[in-house]
Amino acid sequence: MKLTAEQIQSNWEVFLDNIKVYIPGNRGEQLLNFYKRYEERIILMPAAHKKEYHSAFPGGYVDHVNRVVRCALKQYDLWGSEGCDMTTFTKEELVFSAINHDLGKMGDKDHEAYIPQTDQWRKDKLGEDYMFNKKLAFCSVPDRGLFLLQQHDISYTFNEMITIQTHDGLYDNANEKYLKAFMPEQKPRTSLPYILHQADLMAARIEFEQEWLPKLKGENSVESQKKNYTLKSKTSSKSKALNTIKSPGLKNMLDSL
Ligand SMILES: [Fe+2]
Repeated sequence: MKLTAEQIQSNWEVFLDNIKVYIPGNRGEQLLNFYKRYEERIILMPAAHKKEYHSAFPGGYVDHVNRVVRCALKQYDLWGSEGCDMTTFTKEELVFSAINHDLGKMGDKDHEAYIPQTDQWRKDKLGEDYMFNKKLAFCSVPDRGLFLLQQHDISYTFNEMITIQTHDGLYDNANEKYLKAFMPEQKPRTSLPYILHQADLMAARIEFEQEWLPKLKGENSVESQKKNYTLKSKTSSKSKALNTIKSPGLKNMLDSL
């Protein structure tokens, strides 16, 4: 899967607009400032390091997060129409959690988590276009995301903390303590974590279908690739934000778009 420079730029504008529309007041300002500060890193980030995982291509992270926000808003209407108690959380909490659910994938304030793979063998044989940055201490994605938010003085509610923490649902054993309880008093008091998890699951599944089903059906020839994606000229309209990229690794990726 390949996004054009124009698609990457327009995804970034949608990403920032979601903050402006759904996160009001001082917190919205702080979140915008945070994302503008790390724009250069986030705008081209993949959503994973291995190409078999969903959205492991330049710009895949923002593309995925925007899809999760869209799916979350649709899930909000669906759950509400089926009688879910929508008074236990706010739409702002849902969108805040969706925007930041995978934030830990960016790494820490000084180091990117995914950097371009330097080992050609791993790239060719294992499909690893990126590798984990060993300068980064180990931390789970939700923990690192929450740490980054508090480190930049961006507050989050109790609901948002549990929702970001458990967004992988029971695919992550660490969430059993919140999601596998049998006693009523130990179950979440709001459906927000389930709604975000469903949105994330839906987005990742659709990304898998779009990326991999055509390949599994043998539609991955050069000709069909040409049919599916409009390849733009390499330097055509590299937009304002993309032109500011300084990191050599990211510049390389951008030049190959
Ligand atoms: Fe996700």
